Amino acid sequence: MLTLETPKRALLLENIHPDATARLTKAGFEVETMSRALGEDELIEALPGISLLGIRSQTHVTDRVLASAPDLLSVGAFCIGTNQIDLESAASRGVVVFNAPFSNTRSVVELAVAEIISMARRLPDKNLGMHNGVWDKSAKGAHEVRGRTIGIVGYGNIGTQLSVIAEALGMTVYYYDIADKLAIGNARRCSTLDELLGAVETVTLHVDGRPGNSGFFGEEEFSKMRPRSLFLNLSRGFVVDHKALRAHIESGHIAGAAIDVFPTEPKGRGDEFVSELRGLPNVILTPHIGGSTEEAQQDIGEFVSGKLAEYAGAGATSMSVNFPGVSEPVVPGTHRLIHLHRNVPGVLAKINQVLADHGVNVERQMLRTKDDLGYVVTDIGTTYSEEVIEQLRAMDITIRLRTIESE
Ligand code: NAI
Repeated sequence: MLTLETPKRALLLENIHPDATARLTKAGFEVETMSRALGEDELIEALPGISLLGIRSQTHVTDRVLASAPDLLSVGAFCIGTNQIDLESAASRGVVVFNAPFSNTRSVVELAVAEIISMARRLPDKNLGMHNGVWDKSAKGAHEVRGRTIGIVGYGNIGTQLSVIAEALGMTVYYYDIADKLAIGNARRCSTLDELLGAVETVTLHVDGRPGNSGFFGEEEFSKMRPRSLFLNLSRGFVVDHKALRAHIESGHIAGAAIDVFPTEPKGRGDEFVSELRGLPNVILTPHIGGSTEEAQQDIGEFVSGKLAEYAGAGATSMSVNFPGVSEPVVPGTHRLIHLHRNVPGVLAKINQVLADHGVNVERQMLRTKDDLGYVVTDIGTTYSEEVIEQLRAMDITIRLRTIESE
């Protein structure tokens, strides 16, 4: 499959898994890889002639970068978060953005399960004691998790999968979510956070990073937890007040905590980690590694590169972060016109008028809109003149027009 006007070059930064290179090479791209992130000026210099860009969390794709990258078709965030990309600017310039929203879900769940069991058995203290030469063989304060209650706050991709595995371990699951969420298995839905806090012995946070969740869990919420409960946060650092958590651990009200994410995290490997939570008993601190497994990295590499290749080859935008979602297979022998426009009434009629004026017959057409954007994929069987493309491109509502020809 050939995409006209698209330079077939991809740039993958920040040590993206080699499976991504393999997938894009298979799709006909010349792929350049770099192990580090690029700064704004370096990126601006690197992007001419590049149609697909792959990044992780350290490369910032700003409005300035996007403004000086006319060849760029798509940015793949080989991670979950997309805060490092100016999504609105990308959309307004016709650059589609993809991420990997659930490639590392299982990895986070497995770490949470490992930590719940570790805290219930007081492994952090036992392990520390042994390294210091202390043989403390005792069952005091050590528990099985079977038959215990767990409260999952945020019942999304991670929360629901943890729900299944916690139940398989014999735990009774309660959950609370601000959105209506179907209970999986035998999980019990709580209609308020307070109801959940009063019911369970382990509270684990899996909420998303929306700005309103800043300071979501603080003194008031810790106070409402049952005495000797366990607490986990593997979601976002800024949702928890660590000062309050420290006070509740020191008073013995919270019996153990596992924290993977922090309000401020060191920039690089080896930098000092500063936190109120250092040096506390039965507290597991991990450097934001919930989703960091080789399996997850591989899955992210495959998933996002697949999205980039499908967009380049067929205009597929399903699961994009900033475009309306369309995913129609390309029929061999057809031409595809992909038209991104401002979402105003009557666009389809205008496009079809241009096609009709030039005697071009539409075989298939799909329109999707999202906020200010409209995205039309039109398959035509006949050849078309350059004039059709020029006229469509010249429409005042057009943001970007691409053509794809199947073999
Ligand atoms: P998701 O978007 O599928 O689920 C989040 C859920 O939280 C949604 O159902 C939402 O309605 C709910 N929610 C949001 N605010 C809430 C509130 N105040 N109270 C109750 N429910 C609330 O997200 P997913 O994929 O399950 O990820 C969950 C969190 O885990 C995210 O913050 C994500 O950034 C983080 N994460 C952390 C990783 C790590 O390495 N530690 C790796 C992967 C994800």
